[in-house]
Amino acid sequence: MPLPKYNLPRLKGKIIALDGPAGSGKSTTAQLLARSLGYVYLDTGAMYRALTYFALKIGVPPSDGVKLTTLAKNVSIEFKTENDQNNIYINGEDVTTAIRTPEVTRAVSEVSAHRGVREAVVAQQKEIGKNGNIVAEGRDTTTVVFPQADLKIYLDASVEIRAQRRLLDMGKLGVSTTFEEQVEDIKRRDDFDSNRRHSPLQRAKDAYYVDTSNMTIEEQVEWIINLIKKLVK
Ligand code: DC
Repeated sequence: MPLPKYNLPRLKGKIIALDGPAGSGKSTTAQLLARSLGYVYLDTGAMYRALTYFALKIGVPPSDGVKLTTLAKNVSIEFKTENDQNNIYINGEDVTTAIRTPEVTRAVSEVSAHRGVREAVVAQQKEIGKNGNIVAEGRDTTTVVFPQADLKIYLDASVEIRAQRRLLDMGKLGVSTTFEEQVEDIKRRDDFDSNRRHSPLQRAKDAYYVDTSNMTIEEQVEWIINLIKKLVK
């Protein structure tokens, strides 16, 4: 998506955190924001997905918290901006596309629910954001990873709208799926991500809430930019 021109204040060293369920528009919004601000974009879900991809590849089941924790502590996960794309590598392998397959999507909630896995991955995320200048998005960036964030936002949308968005995303990646499959998958992940024991998806008390069901991405970004303008006044 081309970068719209926003009349943005100069913002140094801030942390902006966005949480919300699958398909709420976090990734696109966070990416546009990060590019507009000249900040790093941190897709925390992609890190859990990369770990899941790797575990499935080497035969570690999503239920094995002990092995997954060891794996999470020992793999190297890196983001690289290449041709305006935010690519992700695990142990040197570019897995940007591979982490979006239905197999990985089905397994990632279970992998990311293990406490040891979360501790290892969250430690890396905190390190990436330690100097600020970051827009992070996920399920626990406003509550656990960056509780000190300067701006916290919780994005939401109806299940049907989120499924429709996911269907479009999958189409672009050439993954064959249906609207009904996406509704099922979103409901299952919402349930799993919101009810797990460690760091469940929840709205931080000091997060701004926005329902994006009837908003375009441009409107979402604009809405956040207006908050940022108030923040730095
Ligand atoms: O945002 P996403 O759909 O790519 O995230 C994939 C999964 O990763 C999601 O179902 C739950 C998990 N996740 C998490 O537990 N904590 C985060 N901060 C981000 C994602």
